[in-house]
Amino acid sequence: TRPLKVALLGCGVVGSEVTRIMTTHTDDLTQRIGAPVELVGIAVRRPDRVREGVPAELITTDATALVKRDDVDVVVEVIGGIEPARSLITTAFEHGASVVSANKALLAQDGAALHAAAEQHGVDLYYEAAVAGAIPLVRPLRESLAGDKVNRVLGIVNGTTNFILDKMDSSGAGYSEALDEATALGYAEADPTADVEGFDAAAKAAILAGIAFHTRVRLDDVYREGMTEVTAADFASAKQMGCTIKLLAICERAADGRSVTARVHPAMIPLTHPLASVRGAYNAVFIEAEAAGQLMFYGPGAGGAPTASAVLGDIVAVCRNKVAEATGPGESAYTRLPVSTMGEV
Ligand code: HSE
Repeated sequence: TRPLKVALLGCGVVGSEVTRIMTTHTDDLTQRIGAPVELVGIAVRRPDRVREGVPAELITTDATALVKRDDVDVVVEVIGGIEPARSLITTAFEHGASVVSANKALLAQDGAALHAAAEQHGVDLYYEAAVAGAIPLVRPLRESLAGDKVNRVLGIVNGTTNFILDKMDSSGAGYSEALDEATALGYAEADPTADVEGFDAAAKAAILAGIAFHTRVRLDDVYREGMTEVTAADFASAKQMGCTIKLLAICERAADGRSVTARVHPAMIPLTHPLASVRGAYNAVFIEAEAAGQLMFYGPGAGGAPTASAVLGDIVAVCRNKVAEATGPGESAYTRLPVSTMGEV
């Protein structure tokens, strides 16, 4: 069988781990896919920063030329941000490549347009890694539960803020003290806005709501409140009530089934609730479906290796589709339910 050619865009923490797995587990991947798979190029902005173990001969600074190669079957985008990721993905589709992306910001903003473009070109767009790292959520919602009716998706989808809130809860620390520790340990970024103001969680909520309810929800549709105003005193009162405080993402179908809501905000939850025991930088998501009942997904929601695990799963899936000359679920699987941002909080 003809080898499948994979191009990688971005080689940071996730990209270098994807490279490591692809170059060391080649035989396993070939067996899983049913055809040999080969990494043919890695586009980076700063070649001087490329990590050890990444084959130097694959490095290029010309991402556009890489996605325009007609022999590339799969483009893996782990750059993040809107541009140039969006243009590169669109160009990849135009040249017949399926795309695996870990880009939650882009999917939450332009998921519908990108899905439509993929479908138009008869290729796949997979993005398990965009939501909660290694935890399988996109595929269970898109595939395993496709015959059920999901009514609610609720959970902790940001590890940094869960680390901070957990620290505040267990040590009585204030927000800024806990944030400093999260920064020192490398959980929080130098600019923690995306995490602490809930933008990261809101992007994930938009993606989850879209696939859970087979509609399109954008970042702007998600009600969002960060956790910077939560104080040590709030934790003390929560404790008195047998509760703790978590930053939750909540996606719900309206009772009449005609609209959906998605929101992110700090919420008190009883200590007896399984989400209360999600410690540190871990993520956990409940999915409530009509026939399945309540499912819980738990695990590392970030980090190079866990995120690479999700990326590799998608690479295998889209490569299998290429071998079968098929595609996975596309845009036409979606209906259009109105999205209300005024959900009861
Ligand atoms: N900053 C995110 C988190 C990581 O803390 O969960 C990946 O989305």
